[in-house]
Amino acid sequence: MKVLMLNGSCKKEGNTYNALLEIGKQLEKEGIDYEIFQTGSEPVRDCIGCGGCASGKCVYTDDSVNEFVEKARTADGFVFGTPVYYAHPSGRVLSFLDRAFYSGSGAFKFKPGASVAVARRGGTSASFDVMNKYFGISQMPVAGSTYWNIAHGRTPGEVVKDAEGMQTMRNLAKNLAWMMKCFEAGKNAGIELPDTESGNRTNFVREDL
Ligand SMILES: Cc1cc2nc3c(=O)[nH]c(=O)nc-3n(C[C@H](O)[C@H](O)[C@H](O)COP(=O)(O)O)c2cc1C
Repeated sequence: MKVLMLNGSCKKEGNTYNALLEIGKQLEKEGIDYEIFQTGSEPVRDCIGCGGCASGKCVYTDDSVNEFVEKARTADGFVFGTPVYYAHPSGRVLSFLDRAFYSGSGAFKFKPGASVAVARRGGTSASFDVMNKYFGISQMPVAGSTYWNIAHGRTPGEVVKDAEGMQTMRNLAKNLAWMMKCFEAGKNAGIELPDTESGNRTNFVREDL
């Protein structure tokens, strides 16, 4: 089994990366593979709502969103990490995930996920809330930890000195691994994925009025 993580910082080996790395190291101890996918520092396009992704792929191919979605199809769990910018997730990670989920939500559904927010000081829980919105609308069970998944640090690497933050990351990895193993055991025991309904998209509008 494999967890696909996303580093929503343009810094390849900054604090978000180091928080995700702590999760990865613990996942390996639990017998689970991981990959940290970098959003990088090149521009990431916003979703323009063109609907062209109804074919299954985002129409824009000049960044790595489609590559990430392809990897997501074979992953069994996810962790999305973001640095905090002005008390919200990075614009980069939101642009990336908006397009990944709008074009490829099928790659994520019924698989457990978690998010992580990293800051010097403030805005972590607000950012964590925003990141968690992707899971609820995508039929994804959310893994928790012994605190909200946040860690603190400013200069790259400083986050590893946040002892509770690192502990939270390790415990998140343990809980995510446990969920993934339970789902796998359920699948092997013949428990089918839920047959959820679709079709009622009313936009709150009643046609009979
Ligand atoms: C544009 C910008 C805005 C930031 N805003 C906040 C903030 O609101 N709160 C905070 O505590 N740190 C803030 N920071 C600091 C980063 O969150 C912090 O340095 C973090 O560790 C960076 O993670 P990274 O190394 O993965 O990029 C900001 C940094 C930048 C570049």
